[in-house]
Amino acid sequence: MDLSEALLASLLEARKLCVAYGGVKAVKRVDLDVNAGELVCLIGANGAGKTSLLKSLCGMVPASGGTVHFRGASLTHKPSHEIVRHGIALVPEGRGVFSRMTVKENLEMGAHIRHDRAAIASDLDSVFTRFPRLKERAAQKAGTLSGGEQQMLAIGRALMSRPQLLLLDEPSMGLAPLMVQKIFETIREISQQGVTILLVEQNAKLALEVSHRGYVMESGEVTLADEARALASNPEVRRAYLGE
Ligand SMILES: Nc1ncnc2c1ncn2[C@@H]1O[C@H](COP(=O)(O)OP(=O)(O)O)[C@@H](O)[C@H]1O
Ligand SMILES: [Mg+2]
Repeated sequence: MDLSEALLASLLEARKLCVAYGGVKAVKRVDLDVNAGELVCLIGANGAGKTSLLKSLCGMVPASGGTVHFRGASLTHKPSHEIVRHGIALVPEGRGVFSRMTVKENLEMGAHIRHDRAAIASDLDSVFTRFPRLKERAAQKAGTLSGGEQQMLAIGRALMSRPQLLLLDEPSMGLAPLMVQKIFETIREISQQGVTILLVEQNAKLALEVSHRGYVMESGEVTLADEARALASNPEVRRAYLGE
């Protein structure tokens, strides 16, 4: 790989990123990279700082220190509406669908930054092809959907912005086992179709199975970063996160 390719390959670069809520340091000097085409997971216990890290990457909480670059441009201290335009979409913890709007309206909201009507219509078709249940329920209020369907809707809505980087916060949380499998299959498919993904998950086993690389966070710090396969066979990780 020559230098220009190497530069292009790096999509997201966070350096010494910090997030604090008053006196609580939730994220402490985290270095994190996501390269174009990768599926990278971030695992760690409840309260480790995963959500805070994702939120700071997309400008929903301010960084108290450090930098974020995306395709070479600085995103540090940029507001979230501007970060969305750079091509970063977040599927938040707890899905965040608009429950009183219909499924179709939720998906259209995902495309609010775009103006290419024909392409939006075609992307809507693609989301409906990917998630036939959403198509069947297109005119239903999102609040009437099951948890799994709402997760599909949240992912579909994020895809409607045609993201360069998709941030997923605990997509399998609270779902029945079959639906968890389905969501992970969907994540793998989206990745194989070329969307770069940063996946936060408490289900470390499945997250490491689908990911190329992974980071482990403990008390706000990244304590391990490696190929997903290496993390999955790391005795420390196995004991702490894979229940062995
Ligand atoms: N809005 C907030 N105000 C104050 N403290 C917060 C807030 N959000 C998260 N925290 C604290 O920051 C730490 C990290 O939380 P979070 O990023 O949600 O971790 P995770 O997603 O890994 O469970 C926890 O100690 C949590 O209590
Ligand atoms: Mg969280």
